[in-house]
Amino acid sequence: MEQKVFVTRNIPSPGIDLLKKHISRVDIFPYERPITKRELLEVIENYNGLLCLLTDTVDADVLKKGKNLKIVSNYAVGYNNIDIDTASRLNILVTNTPGILTDATADLTWALILGTARRIREADTFTRENKFNGWSPTLFLGLPVANKTLGIIGAGRIGTAVGIRACGFSMKILYTSNHTNSTLENKANAKKVPLNTLLKKSDIISLHVPLTTQTVHMIGDKEFAIMKDSAIIINTSRGPVIDEEALVKALKSGKIAGAGLDVYENEPVVEKELTELPNTLLLPHIGSATGETREKMAAIAAENIIAALSGKRPKYIVNPEVFRE
Ligand code: DGY
Repeated sequence: MEQKVFVTRNIPSPGIDLLKKHISRVDIFPYERPITKRELLEVIENYNGLLCLLTDTVDADVLKKGKNLKIVSNYAVGYNNIDIDTASRLNILVTNTPGILTDATADLTWALILGTARRIREADTFTRENKFNGWSPTLFLGLPVANKTLGIIGAGRIGTAVGIRACGFSMKILYTSNHTNSTLENKANAKKVPLNTLLKKSDIISLHVPLTTQTVHMIGDKEFAIMKDSAIIINTSRGPVIDEEALVKALKSGKIAGAGLDVYENEPVVEKELTELPNTLLLPHIGSATGETREKMAAIAAENIIAALSGKRPKYIVNPEVFRE
């Protein structure tokens, strides 16, 4: 049977090459921008497989219109852009690309930790603007990182990798998780604590939870109030986990000392007040952005589709209840 796959954005060649080798027809959205829901609705009925990005809304309307869809393969580890319950009800497999982007995202989290604590953005701008007149005892005083307490909210793969990296900085590590994380406890001497204890005791708080109905705005006014005034918050997970209005308030009032963000509540819109504050370091959702990682993500997303369309079990299924041999 002829299989047809639609790819919503050009992805690195290892993914496209694999798809073209195994699938009789592969169509790629031709523009360098996210496809709109309307555009997706216009074409989805023609395809058996959809390879999509975290910027694509694959909700009940899209899934119901995709009458021939067998698989939605997300080119990301997070899948909050897809209505999983509806996909499962319609017997559509959903897959993602976990594991391979762990190191890249943990590295970037550390770039944000150090960059925010040591005011790297402000200092770089100052130097480029020719304002450096010589060493000064009080120039760009930042916050220490070594020997401080790192609070990891959500100790999955990425949270664990961030915690293990913290050993190099002799940090004390606290974490929250639904399960005991023996890797983090054994390798980094981490301690599982209730959220409020973590918020109260941490100098640096890093978010690594998926976006679900339970985690939307899990950090808001109440949580900022518990934090140390010298705390910095780092988010490389999903923007809506932080109530951005509350974050702006906390940063402006000095309730916390800084924020390093890779993700935003209303992406790609970045709250103007965040851009105007000196104590923020803001990146454009580049946690997994290394060439090597993106190529591997492309290959895995393609392999997931190829397996599903040839009746085999894809390696990374989000809704395994749908799969039948
Ligand atoms: C993901 O995969 O969920 C990241 O946010 C982008 O790579």
